[in-house]
Amino acid sequence: MFHLLILGGTTEANILAKAVSDQGVAATYSYAGRVDNPRPQPLPTRVGGFGGAQGLARYIRDHGISHVVDATHPFAAQMSRNAATACAETGTPLAALTRPAWGAQEGDRWHHVPDIPAAVAALSGPPKRVFLAVGRMHLEDFSAQPQHHYLLRLVDAPTALPLPDCDVVVSRGPFTVEGDTALMERHGTELVVSKNAGGTGARAKLDAARALGLAVLMIDRPAMPERVELATVPQVLNWLAHA
Ligand SMILES: NC(=O)c1ccc[n+]([C@@H]2O[C@H](COP(=O)([O-])OP(=O)(O)OC[C@H]3O[C@@H](n4cnc5c(N)ncnc54)[C@H](OP(=O)(O)O)[C@@H]3O)[C@@H](O)[C@H]2O)c1
Repeated sequence: MFHLLILGGTTEANILAKAVSDQGVAATYSYAGRVDNPRPQPLPTRVGGFGGAQGLARYIRDHGISHVVDATHPFAAQMSRNAATACAETGTPLAALTRPAWGAQEGDRWHHVPDIPAAVAALSGPPKRVFLAVGRMHLEDFSAQPQHHYLLRLVDAPTALPLPDCDVVVSRGPFTVEGDTALMERHGTELVVSKNAGGTGARAKLDAARALGLAVLMIDRPAMPERVELATVPQVLNWLAHA
């Protein structure tokens, strides 16, 4: 029996879910459960971790999963590693729906760092007004540089924050260049910290930073396991038809 598991939590996963649903393909969409009200999907949806690679392998067996598409965020490296391990162990075809990394353009002032700890280290120095656009999960790490004023943009209103001096904007995106330019002007942003997520949904802040002549601390992508990588939803549908 055919049953696709989509590891989701991204715009690309949502587009795939719609396409799969439109085609009447049997599929389940999986959220990690990081946000309070995940977007409803046109597919049966499950929420929460599987319990590591072994837990995912068990889920695959117990639920008769025949194919897995890893459409998680390019920084969700643990989930991607678990998917590769579990699919190898269970003999389940796996493909990743990926998006190209962003590249600097003329006028960009990007400084690359390999990971979050390196971004934290690069923030040592005098206080600045920093747009820390890295999501909620790693804010604790930046408490090692409490001298800055941080602007945070989060999907859910936070209950407590590890940063002593910050403004929070609650918004889910997608964002526009005009909106992000106005946001950074309003907050007197001097530096943007961004993950190299790729895609269109979060790109606006980089275009706004260029327009405003602001430096960007760009966190490069983590290494991913070896797997089939596909760039578009039609490619995934074609892979599903043949894998
Ligand atoms: N990292 C980002 O910047 C970012 C940005 C936007 C959206 N997201 C989305 O947020 C979710 C979590 O990202 P992350 O970076 O925290 O992941 P991660 O560090 O790679 O994963 C940590 C653990 O969270 C669980 N998990 C992650 N994605 C899952 C999914 N789609 N379904 C079920 N369990 C999942 C797994 O738990 P178990 O080991 O218990 O299975 C995984 O081991 C992903 O769905 C991702 O697409 C992440």
